[in-house]
Amino acid sequence: MKIGTTLKLDVWGESHAPAIGMRLEGFPAGEAVDRTALQAFMERRAPGRDAFSTARKEPDVPEFRQGLGPDGVTTGDAIEAIIRNTDTRSRDYEKTVPRPGHADYPNYVKTGRIPPGGGANSGRLTAAMCIAGGLCLQALARRGIRVATRLVQVGDIAAAKAAGDSVGGIVEAEVTGLPVGLGGPMFEGIDGALAQAMFGIPGVKGVEFGRGFAAAGLKGSENNDPFAIADGKVVTTTNNAGGVLGGMTSGMPLVFRVALKPTPSIYMPQQSVDLKTMQPTVLQIRGRHDPCIARRAMPVVEGLAAFVVLDALLTEETSVVFRKLTAADLVNVVIDSGVAAAYPELAAQAICVIPTGEEHKTIETVENIWNAFARKGLGRKDHVTAIGGGVTGDLTGFAAATWMRGIDWVNVPTTLLAMVDASYGGKTACDLACGKNMAGAFHPPRQVIIDTDFLRTLPPRRLADGRAEMIKHEIIGGLPHTADVSGAPTAEEIKANLAVKIRTVRADPLEKTGERMKLNCGHTVAHAIEKATNYAVSHGEAVAIGCVEEARLAVRLGLAPATWPEEIAARFAAARLPTTLPEGLTFESLKPLMKGDKKREGNAVVFALPCGWGDVRLVKC
Ligand SMILES: NC(=O)c1ccc[n+]([C@@H]2O[C@H](COP(=O)([O-])OP(=O)(O)OC[C@H]3O[C@@H](n4cnc5c(N)ncnc54)[C@H](O)[C@@H]3O)[C@@H](O)[C@H]2O)c1
Repeated sequence: MKIGTTLKLDVWGESHAPAIGMRLEGFPAGEAVDRTALQAFMERRAPGRDAFSTARKEPDVPEFRQGLGPDGVTTGDAIEAIIRNTDTRSRDYEKTVPRPGHADYPNYVKTGRIPPGGGANSGRLTAAMCIAGGLCLQALARRGIRVATRLVQVGDIAAAKAAGDSVGGIVEAEVTGLPVGLGGPMFEGIDGALAQAMFGIPGVKGVEFGRGFAAAGLKGSENNDPFAIADGKVVTTTNNAGGVLGGMTSGMPLVFRVALKPTPSIYMPQQSVDLKTMQPTVLQIRGRHDPCIARRAMPVVEGLAAFVVLDALLTEETSVVFRKLTAADLVNVVIDSGVAAAYPELAAQAICVIPTGEEHKTIETVENIWNAFARKGLGRKDHVTAIGGGVTGDLTGFAAATWMRGIDWVNVPTTLLAMVDASYGGKTACDLACGKNMAGAFHPPRQVIIDTDFLRTLPPRRLADGRAEMIKHEIIGGLPHTADVSGAPTAEEIKANLAVKIRTVRADPLEKTGERMKLNCGHTVAHAIEKATNYAVSHGEAVAIGCVEEARLAVRLGLAPATWPEEIAARFAAARLPTTLPEGLTFESLKPLMKGDKKREGNAVVFALPCGWGDVRLVKC
């Protein structure tokens, strides 16, 4: 039962199994965990602590199996913890008579049994959610973000308990200290992510943000939150939106309410059926149950909200960091021989030096890397570090993706092309005789470290290669295209340019919707040129020529003005890149090679045609 994007939470176990547990992947390293505060947080949810909670008594002390160092600081590895179930009474549960309002009936149909205590549908698993949630709350507090809840509606719990009945309730949560713009449109929304998490709490029947359902009865003039300036910041004078506009945080407190149904396990006789005899029967529930779960759900709502917000922050921050490479980064290094020659001190730390050049982007080189992993005895919990250009990153990433079915890797791009393009997005591959990057996997690096000092030793031709991809991003993203492109860019320029790639990849991580295919602008022709010239034309040079050739195709198809190809040709030329096909090659002569491209559909070739600044269109020809 998993949830999350960058931060991934897996909750497992059953109410009456020996233990429940959780695994939290992607939690930042170096976070000091306050175990006392965590335990106090767990206690707020734990059973048997007051007269209105179930009589089941559980200590609910998490045992950490990994991810926390002896100093209580997170190591960066997945955090795993379990809680032992010590007070189960499975005899209290019927085996063939489903409890009305519970998951017993669909569970019986699906699995052939009614799991005692609700099994994986039991509220007991929210204890595991609280371990993760408690850690996330602490991490958020360090970032100035706080989550609080209050019970805004609840029935008479005492009366319900006395009558053997139960009541529901509504928990309101408020998250403060959030930046503006966290989340994204449509399915990327922070509200959608929170709702998904909240519906993971057993018993939740509704989630609403701000005025929620009541907004449907208001006029726009009543519901809109007027903007104002307070202390130099944009605020709204009301918060009917609950701090979310278009799936993104508005900077106002994020306010949402969670409706919990009355506990289905009540002590009054209830009409049910015996699923074995298929006869009606009257069910008298025994066992120990809460007359209301809303109060104990409050910390669970807080914890899961913290998980979702931290996940969104980490996803937004991205794992790309701009900083100097340090000795601590040099873990299981794979480096290419060209970079090794320029940086012997890095080569000395390498477990594998691969031969430089696209002609070595082969399965044989991948095998060499695997062999180095084997010599080093790398296991599932190890990670490797690629130091080099796009070839080294693609090959090492592919070797990592396939070693023991996938281990982590860190990418340290050393060419401009790899910094602005190849380092991010998760595509890893090697070339095959039938084409470039034909065998590969989506396997994003755990982190990308961009150290622009590497650009100092990069030959001018390689620098120009990177400029080609940067200009491609200017076209895709409609970026300003007036800056000087003849030398090395600054870290700020790289960041702004890489943002186009990050945005595009985020919109379509696995190239399913077509959005990501826009990154292939100029590449259908470029790959054919590389192949036709046996890679004598470098990737960046081929991209420059490819973009101009594809712009000409756009003109022929009536999709771009006649001046467009010359306009981008001038930009590529300013970066000292070629803009015309090598002698002997024509667009027509490259066609058979284009048909071998991965982007073909049947007999047609799919182009991501540059048609204008900020205007790339997918066209089949
Ligand atoms: N995965 C992706 O999303 C993606 C995107 C774009 C390109 N690519 C791939 O990237 C590859 C091209 O990458 P590339 O242009 O970086 O080529 P590359 O990796 O072959 O590096 C080019 C040359 O520069 C040398 N070099 C690298 N860094 C250096 C430095 N700091 N100082 C001196 N020399 C240095 C290398 O030794 C190599 O000889 C292609 O195979 C392409 O398919 C992948």
